[in-house]
Amino acid sequence: MHNLGILLSGRGSNFIAIADAIDSGIIPNTQIAVVISNLASAPGLAAARQRGLNAIAIEANGRKRQEHDAEIIACLRDQQVDLVCLAGYMRLLSPGFIEAFPQRILNIHPSLLPAFPGLDAQLQAFEYGVHVTGCTVHFVDEQLDHGPIILQRSVPVLEDDDPHTLAARILEQEHLAYGEAIARVLSGNYKIISRRYLPKTGDQ
Ligand code: GRF
Repeated sequence: MHNLGILLSGRGSNFIAIADAIDSGIIPNTQIAVVISNLASAPGLAAARQRGLNAIAIEANGRKRQEHDAEIIACLRDQQVDLVCLAGYMRLLSPGFIEAFPQRILNIHPSLLPAFPGLDAQLQAFEYGVHVTGCTVHFVDEQLDHGPIILQRSVPVLEDDDPHTLAARILEQEHLAYGEAIARVLSGNYKIISRRYLPKTGDQ
């Protein structure tokens, strides 16, 4: 059985999509061991409790990032988490966090990286005037929205879009992409060569 740890700061729709993907067997042999938020008021934390999951607020309370992260790492270890999924977690991870879970932290970002990293990616894409955007699930490394890409899904930008309609279209794809990417990573059936995520085939 795989144990996921989810980190979130907001509404948690990606967390809910992951939980649904586990329930429906898209992510097999897996449970959510813990949902952690840096904000006690995050609606995603309440949603996790409603589903009967172990949901914990670990707030920074003015501590340095490293100290705050150390408490989160201890909690994830305590719950025997083998894959950490960032799902709208609005804090940068310290290098120590990344070292504690090498190639075991995933993030979802609402653009086709490397375009539009950082905040408000959907608005950035809309204002730039791209005709195609989407979402990216990637491994987390020490740079923001940067690690090896596991999968991407694209959406068109339509003539009558506004930033909200575009973000909603991307979000639908995020919900499909995250479960699929988690299942792929947990299968272990891949290799990473330099930055490239490559599925393993045959007896490689
Ligand atoms: C999503 O757009 C995700 O791509 C980004 O933050 C947002 C979180 O939304 N990293 P939700 O809390 O999962 O609904």
